Amino acid sequence: MTVPTPGRIRPRRLRRTPAMRRLAAQTRLHPADLVLPVFVREGLDAPRPLTSMPGVVQHTRDSLRQEAARAAAAGIGGIMLFGVPVHRDAVGSGATDPDGILNVALADVVAEVGDALVVQADLCLDEFTDHGHCGVLTADGVVDNDATLERYAAMAVAQAEAGAHLVGLSGMMDGQTGVVRDALDAAGHHEVAVLAYAAKYASAFYGPFREAVESQLDGDRRTYQMDPANRREAAREVAIDVAEGADVVMVKPAMSYLDVLADVAASSTVPVWAYQVSGEYAMIEAASARGWIGRRSAVTESVLSIRRAGADAILTYWATELAGWLAEEQ
Ligand code: PBG
Repeated sequence: MTVPTPGRIRPRRLRRTPAMRRLAAQTRLHPADLVLPVFVREGLDAPRPLTSMPGVVQHTRDSLRQEAARAAAAGIGGIMLFGVPVHRDAVGSGATDPDGILNVALADVVAEVGDALVVQADLCLDEFTDHGHCGVLTADGVVDNDATLERYAAMAVAQAEAGAHLVGLSGMMDGQTGVVRDALDAAGHHEVAVLAYAAKYASAFYGPFREAVESQLDGDRRTYQMDPANRREAAREVAIDVAEGADVVMVKPAMSYLDVLADVAASSTVPVWAYQVSGEYAMIEAASARGWIGRRSAVTESVLSIRRAGADAILTYWATELAGWLAEEQ
């Protein structure tokens, strides 16, 4: 058997030197495309490390301000706040209380960084309810879609009054985008943007996040979050959210859903973001800690893969650190 020689066609020419590879790169990461998710907990006097997310903490209000200042100095695009209250109840009262932890922390961060970062808030009830669901429950213990929408509307207005530039709707209730848009507009907050977590799957990769927000959930979210088996349904969710006024749509998680991300990126008329979630972070940190993979290269490759699949921006717990590496490489 004769082995064919490559002859004139030699793709390796473009891989020969670092300069050639850099020029030939189709996809690039930039700090401005990264958003840092952060946790702020009521009643802490010092930041509290998270066992399942090494390097990530629950912040105090003060340490959150410092984290936001570091993120702004690193030139990343935005920061997404999650609040962890001390007291929870059936309707998640802390979420709409102007003195609730998420709302006061939003105001803190806006005071600290102004417009240097897009200051964003998670708009969902799960951190605030004593049962841990993303919505309020009926007497039978089922998540009540339409009653939940009223809570989301009030939450959006509270976050806007606290200074949020963008609200991130992660609850997966039907109609949430339209209801929140209308509530913001009725309260005069036309300028506040709505990010719809349009294609959010019921994923095991949210595991470490449950520690981060001290989730009270006993059960699962499969009646509202999407079935991991479904690809086509993402297009339906995106179309609904865009029709209801979403300014940005999200695919979440990222790495196990790159096919969905690529589909959405190919057809969306609004920017498409992706969330590299807590379990994705934890897997790479855990393998790196054991020396099984190289941390910096694995982190960079993972985020690059999400960008390559079509995300315009990426929420990642490595945002600030990765921005530092990108600056070194300039
Ligand atoms: C809901 C919410 C969750 C995450 C972000 N927003 C948890 C869930 O849906 O169960 C998970 C993020 C992560 O795992 O990093 N408020």
